[in-house]
Amino acid sequence: MLKDMNCFSKIGSGSTRSAYICVNNNAPNIFSDWINKDIVIKEAKSERGVRANKFEYKIWSNNKFNFLCPILTILNEGEYIIMPKVNTTKITEYHVSKVVSEYRKYCYLSIHSDIKKKNIGLYKGKPVLIDYPFIEQDYAGFDAIHL
Ligand SMILES: Nc1ncnc2c1ncn2[C@@H]1O[C@H](COP(=O)(O)OP(=O)(O)O)[C@@H](O)[C@H]1O
Ligand SMILES: [Mg+2]
Repeated sequence: MLKDMNCFSKIGSGSTRSAYICVNNNAPNIFSDWINKDIVIKEAKSERGVRANKFEYKIWSNNKFNFLCPILTILNEGEYIIMPKVNTTKITEYHVSKVVSEYRKYCYLSIHSDIKKKNIGLYKGKPVLIDYPFIEQDYAGFDAIHL
């Protein structure tokens, strides 16, 4: 558990995962590529969190939609994923509507109740989803997916 290590600091938590940043150089070897980078480690809290990490990673790597926060790598069979750290402090309804309209270009269903301020951050100035396993419900609706 990253919370027990003094090299990580928790910056957020949801129902299935916690998010940490590295605060010094003492991280275990599996994180050595990511020390001193502007990234977040999302740690699964349980098997559901592992599934969320794996599914998010699959969605990202198969599609690279511009409304998704990139996933840089997946570690330890889904226990961790690494994402760029995004700014979550200044999200407005305008950003939400931008993400919804991008999402709807690829999605035929209308399930997007999880596209809300708390799941969005600014990455290179553009609004992106940071928490998107919910897309599984719409997965069949994406053209671009090749499983
Ligand atoms: N890429 C990121 N940059 C900054 N903060 C993040 C990032 N990813 C997650 N977080 C923070 O961590 C919290 C938990 O992550 P999240 O993916 O929402 O987990 P869960 O799927 O359990 O809801 C988020 O609400 C957010 O505050
Ligand atoms: Mg969340």
